[in-house]
Amino acid sequence: MNNTLSYISQNKDRFLNELFDLLRIPSVSTDENYKNDVISAAKAVKNSLEKAGVDKAEICETKGHPVVYAEKIIDPAKPTVVVYGHYDVQPADPVELWDTDPFEPVIKKTETHPEGAIYARGACDDKGQMFMHVKALEAMIQNDELPCNVKFMIEGEEEVGSPSLPEFLNANKEKLSGDVILISDTSMLSKETPSITTGLRGMSYVEVKVTGPNRDLHSGLYGGAVANPINILSRIIADLHDENNHITIPGFYDDVQDLPQEERDAMADAPFDIEEYKKALGIKEVWGEKGYSTLERQSIRPTLDINGIWGGYTKPGAKTIIPSEAHAKISMRLVPNQSPEKITKLIGEHLNNIAPDYVTVDVNYLHGGTPYVSPIDMVEYEAASKAMEQTFNKTPIPLRSGGSIPIVALFEETLKMKSILLGFGLNSDAIHSPNENYGVWNFNRGIETIVHFYDQYSKLKK
Ligand code: BES
Ligand code: MN
Ligand code: MN
Repeated sequence: MNNTLSYISQNKDRFLNELFDLLRIPSVSTDENYKNDVISAAKAVKNSLEKAGVDKAEICETKGHPVVYAEKIIDPAKPTVVVYGHYDVQPADPVELWDTDPFEPVIKKTETHPEGAIYARGACDDKGQMFMHVKALEAMIQNDELPCNVKFMIEGEEEVGSPSLPEFLNANKEKLSGDVILISDTSMLSKETPSITTGLRGMSYVEVKVTGPNRDLHSGLYGGAVANPINILSRIIADLHDENNHITIPGFYDDVQDLPQEERDAMADAPFDIEEYKKALGIKEVWGEKGYSTLERQSIRPTLDINGIWGGYTKPGAKTIIPSEAHAKISMRLVPNQSPEKITKLIGEHLNNIAPDYVTVDVNYLHGGTPYVSPIDMVEYEAASKAMEQTFNKTPIPLRSGGSIPIVALFEETLKMKSILLGFGLNSDAIHSPNENYGVWNFNRGIETIVHFYDQYSKLKK
């Protein structure tokens, strides 16, 4: 792989410029207004794969945003790696909190990234990380050093829960067949402590509507006599956690699989500085479920969070009303063995049970996903671990992540393939937040590690 690696270092500035072109396209999947940009981004990804030297690249239409598919088959008898990633991004809002234009990438030096970090929406999640795979492939093909077959499946709906992908997988099982799925869409512990993600949380996302009187009422004429839906919703939400910060929905924890003690011990040994953590977030104290560490709370335990709450009068000035309605969006992160369908049913029943008679409660399911655990006793993990070791001079720590990529569990169910979650982001990259960024160092180390992965994998996989 020597020619490949020197090609990468010779072309690193061009790689960055090409990534910048992709980052300039505001491919926000959730907002219809960006539909054309989403399509432009898909085309740009397809072009970049063609330029890399694949046999074929195509844009596959779905009911929603298209999937970009490409393949390079060097020998059908050799193993096949299927790369998954997404070219869609989260909205840039609140735009006014960005220091620079979210869709005009710039490189800025920071304390974490003295070599510079790329600031743009999607810089890390996932355009920057997905593009590392395109460039690693280009380098291997251009230097005749690609050791196995490669397929790419890059979607445009990950940030909205991949609604069209299940059908795409079902309809294209043969086309997508391979030995393992390789994904860079997660983070590592730190630049000094490489880690490989071995688990993703699942998700159940619901929207709740609490309805009281049939119209907004004058709060002088009716206040005190008619229940206020916002007051009621606030009470309901506050009661969803008890004094130990356990979730109070009956049955919520029934299926939770406890982590083996040795894995908890390994987590406790992972380098993690709680003071740094608090400082980075500007908080005085951490919060969470009693009996678990911060790392555990944010990865191996299920959670319930209100993502948004609204109702009544919120414009400037005062208006005295009892609102007719109150709303909230609630997401629950799920851990292995919990089922999104069951949890959605439990919260629906619970909210209806505890709602007092003076209001009605409607619970609407928005999206969900099954948790995923990636085993470490397989050659694919070994290859990933050795690849990281080659780049970072350290054996990576296997670590479960708190984030979700709902489609990964379905890859296993539908395509019968395990996924390797080889991510190079940092939790400080501000994904989904203003000033999202991705270290240039991480981008370059990522490309190298991916090349090492192919090398290791084709040696280990027999
Ligand atoms: N790439 C993230 C997930 C992620 C980030 C996992 C960092 C682990 C570490 C992905 O794009 C994402 O944002 N997923 C969503 C779920 C989706 C259904 C909106 C999430 O986790 O909230
Ligand atoms: Mn992502
Ligand atoms: Mn995301």
